[in-house]
Amino acid sequence: MTDTPVTVAFDGDLALVTVDNPPVNALRQAVRVGLVDAVKAVEESPAKAAVLLCAGRTFIAGADIREFDMGPLLPHLTDVVGTIEMCSKPWIAAIHGTALGGGLEVALGCHYRVASPSAKMGLPEVHLGILPGAGGTQRLPRIVGAAPAVEMITTGAPVSAAKAKAMGLLAEIVEGDLTEGAKAFARSVMDAAPPRIDRAPARPAPTEAEWGAMRKAVEKAAKGQMSPVGCFDAIREAFRLDLDKGLEAERAGFMILKNSDQSKALRHAFFAERAVAKPKAIEGASPRAINRVAVVGGGLMGSGIATSLLQAGIPVTMIETSDEAAAAGVGRVEANLASAVKRGIMGEDAKAKLMGMLTPASDYAAAAGADLAIEAVFEEMPIKQKVFAALDEAMGAEAILATNTSYLNPDEIARGLRNPARVIGLHFFSPAHVMKLVEIVQAKETSAEVLATGFDLAKKMRKVGVLSGVCDGFIGNRMLSAYRRVCDYMMEDMRAIEPIDAAMRAFGLPMGPFQLMDLAGLQIGWATRKRLAPTRDPKVRYVTVADAICEAGRFGQKTGAGWYRYEDGRTPLSDPWVLDVIEKAAEAAGRKKRSFTADEIQRRAMAAMINEGAKILDEGIAARPLDIDMVKLFGYGFPRWRGGPMMHADLVGCDQVLADMEAVAADDPGSWVVSPLLRKVAKDGGFGKLNG
Ligand code: CAA
Repeated sequence: MTDTPVTVAFDGDLALVTVDNPPVNALRQAVRVGLVDAVKAVEESPAKAAVLLCAGRTFIAGADIREFDMGPLLPHLTDVVGTIEMCSKPWIAAIHGTALGGGLEVALGCHYRVASPSAKMGLPEVHLGILPGAGGTQRLPRIVGAAPAVEMITTGAPVSAAKAKAMGLLAEIVEGDLTEGAKAFARSVMDAAPPRIDRAPARPAPTEAEWGAMRKAVEKAAKGQMSPVGCFDAIREAFRLDLDKGLEAERAGFMILKNSDQSKALRHAFFAERAVAKPKAIEGASPRAINRVAVVGGGLMGSGIATSLLQAGIPVTMIETSDEAAAAGVGRVEANLASAVKRGIMGEDAKAKLMGMLTPASDYAAAAGADLAIEAVFEEMPIKQKVFAALDEAMGAEAILATNTSYLNPDEIARGLRNPARVIGLHFFSPAHVMKLVEIVQAKETSAEVLATGFDLAKKMRKVGVLSGVCDGFIGNRMLSAYRRVCDYMMEDMRAIEPIDAAMRAFGLPMGPFQLMDLAGLQIGWATRKRLAPTRDPKVRYVTVADAICEAGRFGQKTGAGWYRYEDGRTPLSDPWVLDVIEKAAEAAGRKKRSFTADEIQRRAMAAMINEGAKILDEGIAARPLDIDMVKLFGYGFPRWRGGPMMHADLVGCDQVLADMEAVAADDPGSWVVSPLLRKVAKDGGFGKLNG
């Protein structure tokens, strides 16, 4: 990082102002100071216009998010933008890469904008729980109108250069050299006074009814997140207030959102999403090239994994038990890709090309040339062991052997095989071509190089890889089982499931625990309970309702019934039969009926989940709290605006979580162990410090 990240050079009648603040030219304080100084230098020079350029891979990608927690560092960006706008000579922003957030706001302060054809422009602040705080909500609607501004700002989605030109956001798209094109454009406008954005309220204003409809749509899409609505309200002010008053209102809205827990959580998610790919365990290790993967199993999981690999450009050999089963697997991949074509994600040509990279086989010998094999067969130890033994025989001793198991121990699956350093868990989530999470499981002897290859592969597959140690259920499913257990206890005590599902939806999860079980299917959970039954601690309370539901052949949505009934195959309907089963189970267990409010349900559910997270950290299964947060965000629909369970604990206060967990544990003595780490962080300031 240079200390003079903004330089001014002169070229004939033009000043060339260059921002050089790698990696993404974020607007840290020194850049803001440099821009104000540059305006002064331009004013004092004989130059007739200024071209604003950026060095490196992109135009300014926004405010420096790391400065958000540092208190006010002057000058404010909004004043910097205003200073550029008030320059007596025209400024031309020359945009390449991405002009995002504060970056686009700087460009909006310039009097003209030109861009490379591949440039993108957006105001993604909504994803950080804030609103564009440097004039974006006031200047954009004055340039492009109400509806396009609402769309861009409340969704945060960037627009292409072509779209920006059509919206009136760009004066010109520069084919060829951007600097030269921008300079030529500047010379064509330098003799005229710089055009200024109208300071009167924006026009034409939508009607009250149109504003009402737009706000409703924004609220619905926001699903509990405050910033889209905050953005909308700020944009509306552009149509009521003159520019200066509108900027004041925008600043006030920005400060409220910036200080909100939601914004803190979303900023945590932004940095955690990047940090999760860089665990200490792979420091200094180089990933191996993966030129072909053998996927064993062509069922739902195997075909999803194969689809995702093909989409990453990696050829796949799909091994099944027979030619017919392999053909069925290929059919599933084809259906996945066909749905991508239908959704406009790829064309028929691309689909045909990917299908050409898929080789079906019914013999392990076909795995011989692959650098990696991923087994996705039935979740039974002897079956998985057989598959690994066959792969060991068919493949080179260096080829990486990965298991997609959700619960089983990879070390046991690979017991007795050559070279255990190449054994790894790659736990995908269903549907594997859609879900972004992959738990990268470090077995006892997995080498750093093999782990790094797992992370590299996840990135190529556009997935979020999270490092996990070995335990039953790894990070995600182990947390899920603690959450389900506490929900089961509340279910039996309340004799109800719907208030629990409703409370967790209100918390921000896409569905409640019972709905989720019905969607995922109840068989795997049942098999796991049976597997663990012999070693189950008799002191731990056990709720039998799920077993009774499975014994009745109700395995969830796919069978038309589970915790709910499904007459249309999709809509959960309350079922008196289930309530009766719960009533009987509760009676047999001697449980007194009691009720919990939605707040109590949420707090108990979160306490059990966070307590399990603390144990997972303590045991070294997860390296950092942020790893747990990313598992829940990308694999389980945990609301991003809550940052993940461990961040949520810090936001509500770990002392409160501890008190909630102690209450849960006191209700069922012997059933819970309150994590010593939770007790510790409750005293000394939360989980955040453990993120390093
Ligand atoms: N502030 C601080 N650091 C940032 C940053 C920002 N705005 N944007 C990116 N970075 C950092 C990343 O954390 C990452 O750091 P590490 O290498 O240490 O992990 C590094 O820059 C490179 O980023 P990516 O790995 O994401 O690189 P990429 O090429 O994949 O993506 C990008 C580049 C599209 C610009 C992406 O980084 C991005 O979307 N950045 C955020 C853009 C954004 O949200 N801007 C709005 C900021 S808020 C604002 O501007 C408020 C306002 O109105 C005043």
